[in-house]
Amino acid sequence: MLQLKKIDHLGVAVSDLNQSIATYRDKLGMEFQGVEEVPSQMVRTAFFQVGDVHVELLEPTSPESPIAKHLEKRGEGLHHIAYEVDDIRAALAEAKELGLQPLSEEPRPGAHNTLVCFLHPKMTGKVLTELVEHTAK
Ligand code: CO
Repeated sequence: MLQLKKIDHLGVAVSDLNQSIATYRDKLGMEFQGVEEVPSQMVRTAFFQVGDVHVELLEPTSPESPIAKHLEKRGEGLHHIAYEVDDIRAALAEAKELGLQPLSEEPRPGAHNTLVCFLHPKMTGKVLTELVEHTAK
């Protein structure tokens, strides 16, 4: 089985990042930690911290982005739950072994010095699962 350390962040698909930043920062009062573009996922992300968990807002930068497809099919909303692991390569190999259908053969660079991979949502109650290893602490 996988060894998950904690929930790292929740990913929320949004169509207007700047407007959503204003809501999360100024109305929900969450600690805004900045915007980062993640070319490997074709998204712009905004990170917020609440306790020791983050919320990641995701806006597509291309119609080919998985987030653009999510917005098209399902509109805005919860996109994924990300869990921290110590060793993403070991977790990916284990996930493959367990039939959890990782969406890529290799981990990919994520926001904030991480390596990430995703598991097919049909395996996990139709919620996309992300595994995250922090490569710089
Ligand atoms: Co994420």
